[in-house]
Amino acid sequence: LNDAKHLPTRLTNPRPQPLTRIVEWSQKLACEVLRPGDLAVDLTAGKGRDTLALMRAVGRTGQVVSFDTQAAALEQTRALLEPLGDVVNTWSEGQGLSAGPGVTLVHACHSTLGRLLQRPARAIMANLGYLPGGDRTLVTHPETTLAALQQSIDLLAEGGRLAVTVYPAHPGGACEAQRVDDFFRVLPQKSWQVLSLRTANCDRAPRLLVAERLS
Ligand SMILES: C[S@@+](CC[C@H](N)C(=O)[O-])C[C@H]1O[C@@H](n2cnc3c(N)ncnc32)[C@H](O)[C@@H]1O
Repeated sequence: LNDAKHLPTRLTNPRPQPLTRIVEWSQKLACEVLRPGDLAVDLTAGKGRDTLALMRAVGRTGQVVSFDTQAAALEQTRALLEPLGDVVNTWSEGQGLSAGPGVTLVHACHSTLGRLLQRPARAIMANLGYLPGGDRTLVTHPETTLAALQQSIDLLAEGGRLAVTVYPAHPGGACEAQRVDDFFRVLPQKSWQVLSLRTANCDRAPRLLVAERLS
């Protein structure tokens, strides 16, 4: 950088990323085990950002299945992905789930995962809580979340990862976060490595749990 004054400011003075960027860590930890052609699942499509990260990791030959109970969320996910050239399919009740490449949007509760998915997935993400910018009362609930997590554990391929971001700050969030913590804490060490990532000096901040299947 002898002649740094001619470089764009972002190269000479990069703005540091916040250390506690939990959602980015979740994407990184889920996506780094994916290979082109893999199957990945987003249990909460929301605005589609996690689905996009998974899609980039599995490539044009891979498949991402994305659930959401809100049509508005699935529309936002479609609107994010289609202009980028991704194939976006929609699953309808009564149909089998296509195994073709691209994103399959599923307008249903994520607790139907086990019934719909016919083959192991290498990464499964869940970013819990409410749709940013949407109705804050439409949140994930511990019973269906835990059902989806149990099914996810059963469906993960060897070496695959389940990454769950929990939000203790909204009403009901602390209870859900505790239930998710408890779920991950008792996964048998022989078959699972489990990582918990949290902001140590703020109990209300989002936190991340990641489980990797060893065998
Ligand atoms: C925090 S947002 C997800 C953010 C998203 N992953 C992204 O990258 O933008 C949580 C989403 O979970 C959805 N949701 C709530 N309950 C659900 C359920 N039982 N099954 C599937 N999705 C659910 C909400 O509608 C909301 O869109």
